[in-house]
Amino acid sequence: MRLRVQPTGPLAGAVRVPGDKSVSHRAAILSAIADGRARIEGFLECDDCLRTAEALRQLGVYIEPVASETLEVHGVTLDGLQEPAEPLEMGNSGTGMRLMMGLVAGRPMTVTLTGDESLSKRPMDRIKTPLELMGARVEGQGDRCTPPVTVRGGDLGGIRYETPMASAQVKSAVLLAGLSATGETTVVEPSASRDHTERMLRAMGADIEVDGLAITLRPGRTLQPQSIRVPGDFSSAAFFLVAALLVPGSEVVLQGTLLNPTRTGLLEALGEMGAAIRIGNESEEGGEPVGDVHARTSALSAGEFGGELIPRMIDEIPILAVAATRAEGTTIIRDADELRVKESDRLAATAEVLGAMGAEISEREDGLEITGPTELQGATVDSRGDHRVAMSAAVAALIAEGETVIEGAECIRTSYPQFARHLQELGAEGVEEEE
Ligand code: S3P
Repeated sequence: MRLRVQPTGPLAGAVRVPGDKSVSHRAAILSAIADGRARIEGFLECDDCLRTAEALRQLGVYIEPVASETLEVHGVTLDGLQEPAEPLEMGNSGTGMRLMMGLVAGRPMTVTLTGDESLSKRPMDRIKTPLELMGARVEGQGDRCTPPVTVRGGDLGGIRYETPMASAQVKSAVLLAGLSATGETTVVEPSASRDHTERMLRAMGADIEVDGLAITLRPGRTLQPQSIRVPGDFSSAAFFLVAALLVPGSEVVLQGTLLNPTRTGLLEALGEMGAAIRIGNESEEGGEPVGDVHARTSALSAGEFGGELIPRMIDEIPILAVAATRAEGTTIIRDADELRVKESDRLAATAEVLGAMGAEISEREDGLEITGPTELQGATVDSRGDHRVAMSAAVAALIAEGETVIEGAECIRTSYPQFARHLQELGAEGVEEEE
């Protein structure tokens, strides 16, 4: 599929973006191992999260879609999980694969997990290392243990593990394995990554303690099912937020958006650049802070970003780069080398797409440098199969001169199937999906 995008007049109105991807994965997985039924509302019905639900069904969990974006999960407890007859097909989803590896590692079963072309290139050695220290066996392809991977689980012992990178997927895989281990498990991060797993485990009654960057889990308690309402995905809202800042005369509200501080680094970065963003209607949903994000067109100046801010905006760097093309001065993003092992090499893909549209952008080994403001030109660009690159290109296209064609735009379905429709609803009329 390709997405054709014409430049647009002002964007206006309110959008409720679909449920958060990270929270949806965790809600399905933790509900599956709780003792009884749980209702999950606002579940993100995208390819990635539906794969996780399907994988859990293969492990013997009954999951019933009871209404739009609503699942009822009949939790079976950890002991109720069964060895699947077939490999678990995780599609494009690194989160799905890594979390499921952690889950099955604790169980006395052998499970193979496969992925699509992009996921088959992504390193699973970062999961293999801690799971093998706990006593599981993990076999993948080549030096970096790429998928397909086979996990032989059971009889784990708790460990203290210092993760080499701030990765919520690694942290969560170790904690999920720790639920089945003998003795306590501690994960220590170099800086804080998203903490949805910890919050949800605590809400379900797990014995989990957070002390700065160290998280300790003591196994043994059966998780209690909770009704979960999944907040809107901040990473999806980020595209409209930046679009509103850049398209002259815009004013947009993103309602019911997840505002967990481990996710909202972009608000701080854009705030430093001069963005007019206001938060209203703050509340809590399912142990997560939520609110409405109001954004209107702003004159931006360049910023320099690195260190602990990067993991808190790890998925928003491509869209931050789009904002930087319109900011006065040189924006520098550093310490972001983790972007090289996402759904694509996101540093290379972002530089290629925005470069093709006329931006002054160059890759650093660990980040990007963007000098603005530049007028962008419409172009034909390739998403490299990466949803966040495709949606960032669509936002850039709204302020470019002439039409932009984004090839390989079907990947947007992995996280945000309604993206084009929501852009149209905000007033971008020249957005067209073409098979
Ligand atoms: C995620 C963690 C992050 C993020 C990904 C979702 C999660 O990946 O980029 O989109 O839900 O745990 P890493 O753990 O590799 O940083």
